[in-house]
Amino acid sequence: MSDQPLKGQKALVTGASSGIGAGVALALAAAGADVVVNYVSSLAGAQQVVDEIKAQGQNAIAVKADVASPDEVQAMFDEMMGAFGAIDILVNNAGLQQDAPFTEMTLAQWNKVISTNLTGMFLCTQHAVKAMLARGIVPGLSRCAGKVICMSSVHEVIPWAGHANYAASKGGVKLFMQTLAQELAPHRIRVNSIGPGAIQTPINRAAWDTPEALASLLKLIPYGRIGVPADIGSAAVWLASDAADYVNGQTLFVDGGMTLYPEFADGG
Ligand code: BGC
Repeated sequence: MSDQPLKGQKALVTGASSGIGAGVALALAAAGADVVVNYVSSLAGAQQVVDEIKAQGQNAIAVKADVASPDEVQAMFDEMMGAFGAIDILVNNAGLQQDAPFTEMTLAQWNKVISTNLTGMFLCTQHAVKAMLARGIVPGLSRCAGKVICMSSVHEVIPWAGHANYAASKGGVKLFMQTLAQELAPHRIRVNSIGPGAIQTPINRAAWDTPEALASLLKLIPYGRIGVPADIGSAAVWLASDAADYVNGQTLFVDGGMTLYPEFADGG
């Protein structure tokens, strides 16, 4: 892969004001892409990512939109087209948790997680794919007409007690992604997922911010360390690049081995 495999390409990363989304936005920019940094509440966080990208010499803008709102998503794409004129890479990253034991989970908690984590991907991907289809392949820019990367989770395969809404959303992402990959391949649009394990971000602070919590988390990670957003950023760059041109409909787990049934290492 060249130093800047995404040179000249335009990317949108949803939920990019912190955590994994911020790490992915920075990595795509370092690989040569201009980036729309979407956020829903933290303008300050998004602006910091934009400033860092600009300091590296790429273009970036912060755009506020709740990915679950059709009108806000429409406005975000209008703004991106106005500013950048195209979309080559969509990273559906925006996601959240609202955890509760199943019998206590409210319908509002269920709906909030499904609408952000799953319906948000539907809305953003539909806009992106329409634009990719309308433009087609640009010779010299990329071998395909567009790339969609869905931020899934190890919980698209690992059931997770106390997180029925979140696990259901990620299970949904799996077949959403695979179905689109099958449907859009003839148009040379690649659709893949990244399945992060435990990455040190605000979403899972309780799992790493005390030595006891971290020690118990590490029992689930054979590789022996918690992940960082840059681990996901480099996976996103590769998946978006022509180096992965024959990769379609896959979930790339970036999890230090969390999906390897670590409890069987000395059991079973
Ligand atoms: C969740 C994190 C969790 C990780 C591993 C992620 O999808 O958002 O809270 O630490 O999976 O269980």
